[in-house]
Parts: sequence; C-alpha cells; structure tokens
Amino acid sequence: MSTELAELGAVPASWTRRHLLGLEELSAEEITTILDKAQVFRDAMAAGRQKTPLLVGKTCVNLFFENSTRTRTSFSLAARRLGADTIDFSASTSSLSKGETVIDTAKNLEAMGVDAMIVRHRTPGTPKLLAENLNCSVINAGDGAHEHPTQGLLDILTIRQRKGRIEGLTVALVGDIAHSRTARSNIWGLKKLGAHVIVCGPSTLVSPRWAEIGIEYSYSLDAILPRVDVFNLLRIQFERQYGRPFPSVREYAHLYAMNRDRLARTKGDILVLAPGPINRGVEVTPDVADGPHSAILEQVTNGLAVRMAVLWLLASGRR
Ligand code: NCD
Repeated sequence: MSTELAELGAVPASWTRRHLLGLEELSAEEITTILDKAQVFRDAMAAGRQKTPLLVGKTCVNLFFENSTRTRTSFSLAARRLGADTIDFSASTSSLSKGETVIDTAKNLEAMGVDAMIVRHRTPGTPKLLAENLNCSVINAGDGAHEHPTQGLLDILTIRQRKGRIEGLTVALVGDIAHSRTARSNIWGLKKLGAHVIVCGPSTLVSPRWAEIGIEYSYSLDAILPRVDVFNLLRIQFERQYGRPFPSVREYAHLYAMNRDRLARTKGDILVLAPGPINRGVEVTPDVADGPHSAILEQVTNGLAVRMAVLWLLASGRR
C-alpha cells in the first residue's frame, strides 16, 4: 500500500453505521471521520495513486430514478477505483415500467449479491425505505428536496481544504433553499461543524422558519456580501417548483447572480462553490465560475474522494 494510503488505517471502531441517509442524523465526529478519510484518498489521488484494491470482491449498484451527471459517474468511478464491481441500473428500461415496486426491484438486485446500493429518487425517504428493507448498505444519492449527503460532504471538504477550518466561518447558501437537497445537507453538516449558515434567496424560496434552528435567513444577497466567507450558489430546481410563485429568471439573475461587481463588494478572500449543473449567467456569471475564487471543479474531484471514503467505511468487511 502507498505511503499516503497507509494513513487510512482500518475502519475506526467508533464507526457503526451501515447506511448513509443524510447528514442530519450524523454526529460531528462521524462527519469528521468521513472528511478525514476522504482527505487521505484525495492526497493519494494527488500523488498519482488512483486505484486502491480495498473493495475487491464487493459489488456496488447505482439505482438512479432521477437524472444525474456528476453523482452517478462519481460513485461508479469511486467503486471501481476501490476494485469493486459496479452495476448501473437504469429505471427507464427496467421492469418498474411493468409494475414492479421499488422495494421488489431493489430486493432482486440485492439477491445477486450487492454490498452497497446507491439510490437517487425524486421521493424523499426512498433511501430510508430501502435501508429498512434490505441487508446491504444504502447510500442516499439525492432524495427529492430532502438530502444529498455526499454533496454536502464534498462541499464541506472543499471549504476545509481552502479555508483550513469550518468552525467560525460564515457560509451563505444562495438560491432555491425550499427545493434544494444540497442546501439541507449543507445546513446540517455545516451547523454541526460550527459554521454560521445564512440561507439567501427570494422570499418564495427561503422560509423564515430556518431561524428557529439558528440558521440566519436573508432575501438580499447584496446585504450579506461583506460578511460571508463562502458562497454556495444553488441552482433553481425548476423540476420541483410545483406551482410555487417564482420571480422571472432574469429578475433572479439581477438580484442573486454572483458576478464581478458583487465579488468586489465581498471580503475579498472568499470562496465560490456550486454543486452543478451550473446555469451560467443565472446563479453565477462565467467569469466568476471560471475565476480564481471558484472551486467548482475541485468540488467534483473531492466528490470522488468523498465517495471512495463513504463506500469504504460502509462496505468493507460486510456482507
Ligand atoms: C445536485 C442535485 O442533483 O441535487 N446536483 C448534483 O448532485 N451535483 C444539485 C442540482 O441538481 O442542482
């Protein structure tokens, strides 16, 4: 094993979880364990060591009922880099169209000897339902507007790398807070690690009730610009609006797009994140998305490291 990976050690005895359903249920210690292990994988990748046969003989299945570019390929690649076999399940060509339930579909896949099932579904709670009905590990890869834990973890890892800490930072989540699972996973993870979180966006998409759990809310990006260390720019989830009143895209861009002018009114050494897919010119202008404050592509690289860490923690040593 390489020098970098020697630091990985064994799965800590304190790690007892079989599933990763959300960051809300994890402790600060558990989140830190995942981040630390992900950093080891990230360092090994940076040193040119891409493959580590830690999950040889294990099988991971991607069970995606919603579209995905980054998350799906990232989980597949993470599993392969660890030496596991992977199956990519496509909902559109499966027997679901013949009336089979999600649980039956998952149980049939599990019967082929699956160690970890990575699930994305538009209905919140689907990964939990499967976790209650299966023996393998279940990983939530996004359930409706509920949670997207590996996205939250990769965002937090990217902040920790660039800023050296999480505690005491002010992180603004800007955009469609009402429908963003990325927002919710960031909120739980960042709060547990001691960051000050501000949710910011149009009043139709940001509830004042976040204040009840200590999250600041703001309808004005301009007002919070000078106080923020990290801006995480979230996409308007057009596919989840369900008739909610939404200001025009042009008006949204006018009020909330991170652009050169707004950048000039920040603290200066700020970090810009976006989970992707980004809509250039809507939540962020191209010069900012591709500029020195942006860590958008680093997030993608970190996503691979986070997913390797999660798969390793959950799937090694189990069947
Ligand atoms: C996010 C998702 O699917 O929730 N994307 C992703 O996983 N990289 C965010 C989004 O779609 O806006």
